[in-house]
Amino acid sequence: MKDDRKKDLRMNITLDIQRFDPERDTEPRRQAYEVDVQPTDRVLDALMHIARHVDGTLAFRKSCAHGVCGSDAMRISGKERLACKTLIRDVAKKDGDVISIDPLNHMTVQKDLMVDQSVFLSKFRAVEPFLKPRKPLPFSSEFYQSPEDRAIIDEATKCINCGACYSACPVLDENPDFLGPAALVAAVRFVFDSRDEGLAARLDIVDQQNAVWSCDNHFECTKVCPREIKITKLINLTKRTIKKYKEGETDA
Ligand code: SF4
Ligand code: FES
Repeated sequence: MKDDRKKDLRMNITLDIQRFDPERDTEPRRQAYEVDVQPTDRVLDALMHIARHVDGTLAFRKSCAHGVCGSDAMRISGKERLACKTLIRDVAKKDGDVISIDPLNHMTVQKDLMVDQSVFLSKFRAVEPFLKPRKPLPFSSEFYQSPEDRAIIDEATKCINCGACYSACPVLDENPDFLGPAALVAAVRFVFDSRDEGLAARLDIVDQQNAVWSCDNHFECTKVCPREIKITKLINLTKRTIKKYKEGETDA
């Protein structure tokens, strides 16, 4: 990470990281690493530097390094973010600043910043995130959708399953059975898909206390989503659509 041409732009900061090795630790502990960085380095660059040159035991996930795969979501300076999309200057301003790094909430820590996503992912499966066609699929041609109909579900299709919203959701602090924002975004994507049976096929799933009705409009999910999906708004739209459907005002 050293670049002598930009000496004046370098900062010496500390990453204060939650560590936990299930084979060694009974409780999480903290470990501080001093790193020499540029403000435009990403937090992921600093973590990679530590893992490659300072402490090879540090565990975290990453894959694409470009905000596409969602695998490096973590809490950086107290807020859920993607390490590959967070610049040092977003969370540290000067020499000596400390950046705290913690694993996502609401998932069991496997090691350091790596969390067990199995419950989180099982909630995706619970909403049946696949097309249930409202008419037989054409055998020899594509199942067309108008640009206008596609635009309705555009926002929900942007989800990268990073889990940031799931970690930030205060409802999950009290109710671990809540499906959570990410799974509900996946449900919304099909409820409003013009090619799908829509709400009718998913009423039993989304119209439940542990589904849309547990959302208390805290908006914490919306604040942290790296894809800027207006999650709370989509959940509220689904609540209104369910009410209209039950009152016979809409057929989906
Ligand atoms: S809705 Fe946003 S924060 Fe939640 S999993 Fe999808 S991309 Fe991540
Ligand atoms: S590593 Fe893929 S989103 Fe950051």
